[in-house]
Amino acid sequence: MKYYIKTFGCQMNKSDSERIAAILEVAGWQSATNADQADLVVLNTCSVRQTAEDRAYGHIAKWRQYRQQNPSFIGVVTGCVPAKEGDKLAKRFPAVDIFLNIQDIEKLPELVAEKRRTAFAAGTEYTDQNINYLQTIPHHQSSFQAFVPISIGCNNFCTYCVVPYARGREKSRGSAEILRECQKLAAKGYKEITLLGQNVNSYGQDDPAEIDFPALLQKIADIPGDFWIRFITSHPKDMSNKLIKVIADNQPKVTPYVHLAVQSGSNKILKAMNRKYTSEDYLRLIGKIRQAVPEVALSTDIIVGFPGETKADFAQTIDLFKQARFNMAYISQYSPRPETTAAKMEDNVSRSVKRQRDKELTAVLEKIALVENKKDVGKTIRVLVENKKGSHYIGRTPQGKVVKVREAGLTLGRFQEVEVRRALAWRLEA
Ligand code: SAM
Ligand code: SF4
Ligand code: F3S
Repeated sequence: MKYYIKTFGCQMNKSDSERIAAILEVAGWQSATNADQADLVVLNTCSVRQTAEDRAYGHIAKWRQYRQQNPSFIGVVTGCVPAKEGDKLAKRFPAVDIFLNIQDIEKLPELVAEKRRTAFAAGTEYTDQNINYLQTIPHHQSSFQAFVPISIGCNNFCTYCVVPYARGREKSRGSAEILRECQKLAAKGYKEITLLGQNVNSYGQDDPAEIDFPALLQKIADIPGDFWIRFITSHPKDMSNKLIKVIADNQPKVTPYVHLAVQSGSNKILKAMNRKYTSEDYLRLIGKIRQAVPEVALSTDIIVGFPGETKADFAQTIDLFKQARFNMAYISQYSPRPETTAAKMEDNVSRSVKRQRDKELTAVLEKIALVENKKDVGKTIRVLVENKKGSHYIGRTPQGKVVKVREAGLTLGRFQEVEVRRALAWRLEA
């Protein structure tokens, strides 16, 4: 029996898909190269914005055809689906056999076996594997880069965000478990470990017996081996001096890259978003990070067109961008999400204004990123060779910058010193 997992959304979902693959393989399933060759398709959805949701659910349209070809086809939807949406979705998408909360994913083989027994009398015997979601060793897709979730869920309830409804409250994974996984990866020669959580900085706060994030990061950095450690994402309100010190003390093993979502430059909007800091707090914080880790690259998330965002509020976001000098930013146009507090506010910035603000901010970012990238020209930089594209390779610097490398015979998954020849806004050439 073959499975296929279609993944949408962020690294968190990509990591979850690796765990789903592991859970299914323990239960005897084999991976299919295409969805139309699979007996089981698992759709790992993202609902962060309406467009993301539409893309994910658009895939279900193909399931009727799969079922015609293969009457015992089973379609499963999991991922970031707000709990209360389940019933509505079941009515909207009758082609879906199973809706499953991502935190219950270990039940998937059992539910599929049950479905096969009752619906098709196929008679697969299921024996409980007792798999615990966070203890499952994932089926890593790469042999040199690995995502390691350290917590799931989120307690922050930013007013625009569906994640706390889709993934539940924050739950930290045991540090012993995380360390074991990282030690194994290091021993296997993995070159990059990315710790994942919606807010890695608040790791351990749900368990008084657990260590905090800076201590966890230090322990991982102490694991012998030549590898990089990254972590995403950080909430500015929880970025402590202790954490900044651990990053600074462990250069370059803990890579000089911090993703720190600011969301807006207007204090009025930040308050309405329930972000719990001001733009002044944010700028002070990145000042501290830059002082402690001078080579650091910063990236951020921004929402344009949040309810009530005026021209003046947006001008403050532009201003913050100019002061913060981000190397990269993920700019989103606000999209009301079910169950969130902001969905009850009037979505009063028109689509065209959202688009315009997105464009304007991207142009500001592009200019800054180009100036910052030009500072790398002439330097020799260590990159991790990630990919081969035609006659060149794609590598990534410790700062997370993409580098197009013109050189023959490099090995994927190895570190390589490269000489930067040219800088563009979104990549370097070496
Ligand atoms: N936990 C992360 C943090 O706070 O940095 C972010 C997680 S969220 C899945 C990724 C990004 O999507 C957010 O930082 C935000 O910029 C954007 N986002 C979330 N909800 C949104 C919404 N309703 N409309 C537009 N963008 C949204
Ligand atoms: Fe969403 Fe805010 Fe939690 Fe990030 S911190 S996942 S934006 S609620
Ligand atoms: Fe990620 Fe989308 Fe969920 S961005 S956390 S997959 S809602």
